Amino acid sequence: MRTSTVQTFKTARRLLTGAHASHELAREMHQLGCKCPLIVTDRGVSQAGITDTITAQLQASGVEHFAVFDAISAEPEMAVVEACRALFVEQGCDGIVAVGGGSAMDTAKAVAVYAGDERPLAELFGEDQVMPRRFPLICLPTTAGTGSEVTNISILADNEAQLKKGIVSNELLPDVAIVAPELTLSCPPSVTAASGVDALVHAVESYLSKFATALTEPYSLAAVQKIKASLVRAYEQPNDMSAREEMATASLMAGLAFGNAGVGAVHALAYPLGGRYHLSHGMSNAVMFVPVMRWNQAACPERFVELAKAFGAPADITADAAGELVIDEISALCSAVKIPAQLRAFDIPESALPELAVAASGVTRLLRNNPRELSVQDIEAIYREAY
Ligand SMILES: NC(=O)c1ccc[n+]([C@@H]2O[C@H](COP(=O)([O-])OP(=O)(O)OC[C@H]3O[C@@H](n4cnc5c(N)ncnc54)[C@H](O)[C@@H]3O)[C@@H](O)[C@H]2O)c1
Ligand SMILES: [Fe+2]
Repeated sequence: MRTSTVQTFKTARRLLTGAHASHELAREMHQLGCKCPLIVTDRGVSQAGITDTITAQLQASGVEHFAVFDAISAEPEMAVVEACRALFVEQGCDGIVAVGGGSAMDTAKAVAVYAGDERPLAELFGEDQVMPRRFPLICLPTTAGTGSEVTNISILADNEAQLKKGIVSNELLPDVAIVAPELTLSCPPSVTAASGVDALVHAVESYLSKFATALTEPYSLAAVQKIKASLVRAYEQPNDMSAREEMATASLMAGLAFGNAGVGAVHALAYPLGGRYHLSHGMSNAVMFVPVMRWNQAACPERFVELAKAFGAPADITADAAGELVIDEISALCSAVKIPAQLRAFDIPESALPELAVAASGVTRLLRNNPRELSVQDIEAIYREAY
């Protein structure tokens, strides 16, 4: 199932990890020639005190000029990117620093390419539609997480079209990603749960992807191991620093894996749930996770054996037992972090399922990575199973 073509591995240009890595921000900005950054964050992150901590560190390092944009909604919309870019221009900023979860990072990544472009934002959607990025971009994730700090995509909601759309280009790869686990300590349990399961979906889907490579597979499997060992602990004991560190590393590893191998049908079927019914990215993925794994299992039993081992199964586990074990482990993790297992829990009418299936079948960018093909009828059957 592996591709035999030439493979590239892309990530942020520089990666800083470990406790207090955020203290390096001023130095990294300086090296990139950034004197007046726009800090792109959101209110939840600011209320947790993180924005003040970061700006105080910058001031202590002699950075006098900066602006803060924190009017970001979860699952950011195009209008938010417009407002953020307007502030960037108005304040004469010369670089962008994202401090937040995927919503803040995706907004920042979009603004970083849109700020130097006169075309309407809508023209940047799709693959390789953006101009060379003119402004430095640094990402500091505060959730664990989306892995957006090392991926080349920004996902935005187009509310008119009721769709989530991606700007995909290597110009979106940040100059620097700073993964400092203490920034995730204040994540409330519901955010720890949803973003942690998203990271697990990234790890599993990238491992099953048709475009998995010898460089992505070890990251996928290591991320599965770490999430199995630490997610419930981080959820139940938010101040457990070692669990937060493990989750921050797992999220980064899963990001490195899926940023290169891609994700598949779980994400493709989750997208319309976010676009039409505003389920969060993590929730919509979590609810589609098990039904899609049941579908995929038959296509690549040997891959499920390796996944089962990453979840802790003995080395001699059979393919049949491995499939069941992976599905049981995923269900158990989701239920331990109190994520609803059924679509009906989210106020989505059953009559909407055929229309959702048509929308999901259009997400070919992701479906082509999936180890087993899905027709519109297959997708509808999977939604029914999830219902
Ligand atoms: N670009 C990519 O590669 C990629 C990958 C996966 C998901 N995404 C996108 O990421 C978004 C979801 O991101 P997310 O799951 O990180 O959540 P998020 O950024 O939407 O944040 C969720 C909530 O948690 C709060 N929060 C975040 N960090 C906090 C902290 N440390 N302390 C207290 N509160 C905190 C925020 O204020 C917000 O209210 C979606 O829009 C999704 O489409 C992007
Ligand atoms: Fe995701």
